[in-house]
Amino acid sequence: MKTVVEKIKESAIEEDSILRAAGILQRGGLVAFPTETVYGLGANGLDSAACKKIYEAKGRPSDNPLILHISALDELERIVSSVPAEAEKIMEAFWPGPLTLIFSKAACVPKEITGGFETVAVRFPSHPVANALIKAAGLPIAAPSANRSGRPSPTRASHVLADLDGRIDMLLDGGSACVGLESTILDLTGEAPMILRPGAVTKEMLMDICGEVLVDPAVYGHLEPGQKPKAPGMKYTHYSPKAEVVLVQGPQTVEYINARLLEWKGLGRRAGVIAADQTKNRYLHGVVLSLGDRENLEQIGASLFHVLRQCDCLELEIVYAEMFGEAGEGAAIMNRLRKAAGYQIVNT
Ligand code: TXA
Ligand code: MG
Repeated sequence: MKTVVEKIKESAIEEDSILRAAGILQRGGLVAFPTETVYGLGANGLDSAACKKIYEAKGRPSDNPLILHISALDELERIVSSVPAEAEKIMEAFWPGPLTLIFSKAACVPKEITGGFETVAVRFPSHPVANALIKAAGLPIAAPSANRSGRPSPTRASHVLADLDGRIDMLLDGGSACVGLESTILDLTGEAPMILRPGAVTKEMLMDICGEVLVDPAVYGHLEPGQKPKAPGMKYTHYSPKAEVVLVQGPQTVEYINARLLEWKGLGRRAGVIAADQTKNRYLHGVVLSLGDRENLEQIGASLFHVLRQCDCLELEIVYAEMFGEAGEGAAIMNRLRKAAGYQIVNT
């Protein structure tokens, strides 16, 4: 299949491109589109045959459910069976935006897209292109991140093409995603709201609105043997470049990484470091990639997946990464870094 690529500006959305893309979705095809978090791979979320194509194109395990995307609040009632009272406050505060909520599903939502669960994940993205596309299609749009399963989520159109060119009908190229990390997932079907995946809507922000907020232990990789994460997607090794990734923390971080980089250089191997602007000039060997200003977590989050993908383009074999605090968006950044590293952490 040939993947048609159409450039589209956030500021001047080309109506014809949106209509062509919406037509593909209505006919059961696949369209990758920009959102404020990462690029999504969209299909008609009420059509299990169309959603099956998403699983095939991504190589995604069939037990991993999809998020349904809406373009207005009144589209929610069609796909969920009830809306808990606390959800109203949360939606008012954070929708449209980088927050996915889990509800009990309505009967029209096929079980093939919910991984067999009676719940459904719903997101109302704020990106104008995503909003225009969902509106024009007139359907809830199922959209996982538009990467091959296991690869870092795509934050640029070039990332989508690297993974899915020839496997999808269309890509709307809307430039770089501003958040760069997937949405926060909040489960509203238990006794208290629980974060299943941290994102740019942080635990602190949610607590301001709804008081108590739990965090699934899987977010920190703290699962007992036999315990499963509540978001099935969180169990897969993810976000990983082909290189081995090792996280390093403690007062001797720079010295430790420099020593390792020198060793690898001596062995003729391609090693690198993922650093921040504050430390990047202190690394003396190997390839140095900076995520940006350590004090600006939004910037670090927005560049993380691009930098992980660069590790592959540069054919690195081993990559050391600096760590960040868990406050605010740091929780989301560290969650993705820990997963990319397969939970390998060195304390110096
Ligand atoms: O920012 C985002 O959320 C992006 C953009 C495109 O909207 N989408 C995204 O989708 O990251 P995906 O499929 O890559 O990740 C969805 C996550 C998976 O971990 C999945 O297991 C979880 O959401 N999920 C979906 N439905 C669920 C449900 N009913 N219960 C628990 N977890 C669910
Ligand atoms: Mg994904």
